[in-house]
Amino acid sequence: MNRVQELITKNFNQYNYEAIDKYVALGGFEGLKKAMAEGPEFVISELRTAALKGRGGAGYPTWKKWSIGYDRVAEQKFVICNADEGEPGTFKDRDLLAKDPYKIIEGMMISGFVFGAQQGFVYIREEYSHIQEMFKKALEIAERNGYLGNNILGSNFNFSIQVFSGAGAYVCGENSSLIESMEGRAGRPRIKPPRIGEKGYLNYPTLVNNVETLAAVTTILGSSGEEFARYGTEGSKGTKVICVSGNVNAPGVFEIPFGTTLREIVYDIAGGVENDNGIKFLQLGGISGPLMPSNFIDTPYSYEDLQAEGFSIGSGSIVVVDDTNSVIDYLVSVSDFFYHESCGKCTPCREGKRQITRLLRNFAEGTATREDINRIEKISTTMKHTSFCGLGQTAPTATLSALKYFLPELWLHVAEKDVQHIVEGEWK
Ligand SMILES: Cc1cc2nc3c(=O)[nH]c(=O)nc-3n(C[C@H](O)[C@H](O)[C@H](O)COP(=O)(O)O)c2cc1C
Ligand code: SF4
Repeated sequence: MNRVQELITKNFNQYNYEAIDKYVALGGFEGLKKAMAEGPEFVISELRTAALKGRGGAGYPTWKKWSIGYDRVAEQKFVICNADEGEPGTFKDRDLLAKDPYKIIEGMMISGFVFGAQQGFVYIREEYSHIQEMFKKALEIAERNGYLGNNILGSNFNFSIQVFSGAGAYVCGENSSLIESMEGRAGRPRIKPPRIGEKGYLNYPTLVNNVETLAAVTTILGSSGEEFARYGTEGSKGTKVICVSGNVNAPGVFEIPFGTTLREIVYDIAGGVENDNGIKFLQLGGISGPLMPSNFIDTPYSYEDLQAEGFSIGSGSIVVVDDTNSVIDYLVSVSDFFYHESCGKCTPCREGKRQITRLLRNFAEGTATREDINRIEKISTTMKHTSFCGLGQTAPTATLSALKYFLPELWLHVAEKDVQHIVEGEWK
């Protein structure tokens, strides 16, 4: 099987945003036309056949989310494309937005049509300011050509899209914080229920989808759910856009059928490890994912295979870390990131992250004691179970996985008076 597949990324480098006619010639807006001709229930059924799962991290089935949204009656509804992409190691949405903007616009239109919304927003992180400008121009061109605005393509469907700029906070990728920030408040998560599908932007039902999810929707409607489902595995149908970075020779964004092994991804697709070094671990699904030691390298990249080993796809990022790196240094930088990004709303995350960062620094400086290992484990577990939102719940994931797979390396950083315990084998 070809390990790099172009379905979602088929239009990359094929047109420039100024040439909407080229997008049309590539089959653009055919998915929208089909959706409008066949109706919302047809779209939901195609997404169900394709077994598309949300690509923003949680992997919730898109057809289910859209079906619940479609059934909801309200005076007004909104759709939002989540292009915050704040997860370190994740840069696939940037490519999707920059290299095929009309596919995302079309996906948003299909979502607006099914959900019954007349207004969409694309929430793009502030760091992608060049993409924001390009996207605004693409929206103007789409409107001039009758693809946005009133009576789209001669139908009675009215829809427009506005670009909203994030302000640089990682937590604003979480859908309720994103909406809080759009409403002009500090980006902090809302208490749920009510879920934003019920009361979202301005308290109206709101459908939030990731950039890649919307690109996949356009791809599926442009062909069929069955065609998309021909790729991948039984439990993970279709393809996935991944971003590979770290110590590899050819980092980048690739589209692969689910079921490709991690070994194939690292060695055949991303050019192998720099300087022919060995792999120490991979971090899958962004900085909030666990560290996967190299002995799992033959695991197929699919929801079910990764889950069976205790890992997950998350945001679709794969960071490769070679055996010249220190686990402690890596954990310190992960922890620093979360310490900086914690919004401060809840105590377990705000205080827990501060304490874990301090304790990990003891290891980096060689002043840690064996009790620090127990403290890190206790605080991490408490954070995982009691934090208010996904940020705090997943912030200790990398550290907890290091305690599972790299404990001897942590012990080697315990202050000298305690090191004798390693010799005595007490670390087990
Ligand atoms: C801390 C945090 C950050 C998140 N960041 C993003 C993000 O940058 N982009 C994204 O699409 N989803 C992000 N999510 C997930 C969103 O809340 C939401 O589940 C997603 O946008 C839904 O889209 P999907 O169903 O298409 O996956 C984040 C979640 C959390 C808890
Ligand atoms: S878990 Fe962290 S980011 Fe989430 S609400 Fe609590 S303090 Fe804020």
